[in-house]
Amino acid sequence: MRLIRQMTRKKLPTAYSTHGLMKCLTAFDLTFLGIGAIIGTGIFVLTGIAAATQAGPAVVLSFVVAGIACAFAALSYAELSASVGGCGSAYGYSYAAFGEFIAWIIGWDLILEYGVSVAAVANGWSGYFNNALTAIGFGLPDALTKGPHVGGIVNLPAVVIILILMGLLIAGIKQSARLNMAMVFVKLLTIAVFIGVALFHVHPANWTPFAPFGWFSTAEDGKTVGILAGASLVFFAYVGFDAVSTAVEEAENPQRDAPIGILVSLAFCTVIYIVVSGLLTGIVPYTKLNVSSPVAHALELIGVNWASALVATGVITGLTTVMLVLYYGLTRIILAMASDGLLPKFFSKVDQKRHTPVRNTVICGVIMAIMAGALPLGILAELVNIGTLVAFVLVCGGVIVLRKTQPQMKRPFKMPFGLVLPVLGVLSCAALIVFLPLTTHLRFVVWLAVGLVIYFLYSRKHSKLVSLN
Ligand code: ALA
Repeated sequence: MRLIRQMTRKKLPTAYSTHGLMKCLTAFDLTFLGIGAIIGTGIFVLTGIAAATQAGPAVVLSFVVAGIACAFAALSYAELSASVGGCGSAYGYSYAAFGEFIAWIIGWDLILEYGVSVAAVANGWSGYFNNALTAIGFGLPDALTKGPHVGGIVNLPAVVIILILMGLLIAGIKQSARLNMAMVFVKLLTIAVFIGVALFHVHPANWTPFAPFGWFSTAEDGKTVGILAGASLVFFAYVGFDAVSTAVEEAENPQRDAPIGILVSLAFCTVIYIVVSGLLTGIVPYTKLNVSSPVAHALELIGVNWASALVATGVITGLTTVMLVLYYGLTRIILAMASDGLLPKFFSKVDQKRHTPVRNTVICGVIMAIMAGALPLGILAELVNIGTLVAFVLVCGGVIVLRKTQPQMKRPFKMPFGLVLPVLGVLSCAALIVFLPLTTHLRFVVWLAVGLVIYFLYSRKHSKLVSLN
C-alpha cells in the first residue's frame, strides 16, 4: 500500500513526458519551430555566395535540388516520428532501426549539426548586429567582434547572444516557443518586404547567362562549381526542419503534429527560397552578390535604402530564431542520449520546477559560446552540412530497415510508393555529400573518430542496453 502511495505520488501528471518535460506544443507551435530553425543564414547569406561563385542565377535550381533531397528526408522523418516517436530525433529512430552503435554515430553527428550550427549562426548574427550598432554610432571595437585567429580578442556579441538564449531556454519551452513565434513573424515580414520591393525592380537581363557554370564543372582553382555544388552549399538553408522531431516529447499530440510540423515548415520554406533566390538574382547581376549580407546589399544597390535597413534588422531577428531552435534541439538530443546511458547521467537531469534540462542547457551554452567567440565561421558552417546529410542518409535508411524488420509496426503516417522515396532520399543526400569540399570530408572523419573513441571508452560500458543484458 505504501509502495502504491509512493508510486502515485511520484507519478507525473499526463501533461509531462517520461523525462518530466512539459507536453504543451501544438502542430502550429511545431510548424513555427521548424520555420524558426530553417530560414536564416542560408537564404540571407549563402544564396549570394552560391550565386556569385557556384551557380549564377541558376542558384534557384540549387535550391530546388537541395529542397528535393530534403523532402525525401523530411518524409522519412515524418514517418519515423509518427511511428517510432520518442525523444532524440534521428538518434531515437536509428536506435530503433539499427541498434546502439549506429544510433551513437548519428547522435554524435547531430550534436555536431546542432551545436556547430548555433556557433556558426551566432558568428553571422554578430556581424549583422555590429553593423547595426555602427549605423547608429555605437560600433564595437574590432578586438571585441573577432576571435584571436583574426587578430581580435573575442567575438563578444556572439558569446552574449548564446548566453541570452541559454537563459531563455532554461526559463521554459513554452516561453521560448512564444518568443520564437513572435520573431518568426518579424522574419517573415522582412521577407515579404524584400519580395514586395524586388518584384518591381527585376531586370530579366540579369538572369542571362542563367547557368554560367552548368550542372557541374571545375573552376580554374580546381574547385567543383555549378548547380550541384551550389546545392551542397545552400543545403545549409534547409538545416533545421529536423529540429521539429526533437520536440516530439513536448508535443501534445506528437503522432499527428510532428509530421505536420516537419512537412508544412519545409514546404513553406522551399517556396520562399525559390522566390527569394529568383528575385535576388533578378534585381542585380549575380556577380555582385558575394558579400556577407547579399539581400540587404542588393536592395542598397537598387537604391531602396529604407528596405535595406529594414531587412538587415529582420535578419538579426531571423538568425536569433535559428539559434534558439537548434540550441533547443541540441539539449533534447543530449538528454535522450544521456537517458540511454551513452552520455554521463549528469546530462539526463530535468529540472523539476522549470521542466527543462537546465544542466545540459548551461553546459552546451558555455561550450558553444566559447566556440562562437573564438572559431572562424567558415570552418563551423561547412561541417554542419556534412553532419546533417549523413544524418539524413541514416534516417532514410532507417525507414527502409524498419519497413523490412517491423512490417506490422503501426504507422500513422506512411510514405506512399513503397521504398522508392526513402531510397531516393539515401541517393540524393549521398550525392550532395560527394559535392562538398574534400577538407570538409576530412574534418568530418576526425569528428567521427573522436566519437568512436568516446563510444568505446565510455558509452558502450555505460549503455542501459548493455547493463540490461
Ligand atoms: N537553416 C538554417 C540557416 O539557414 C541553419 O541559418
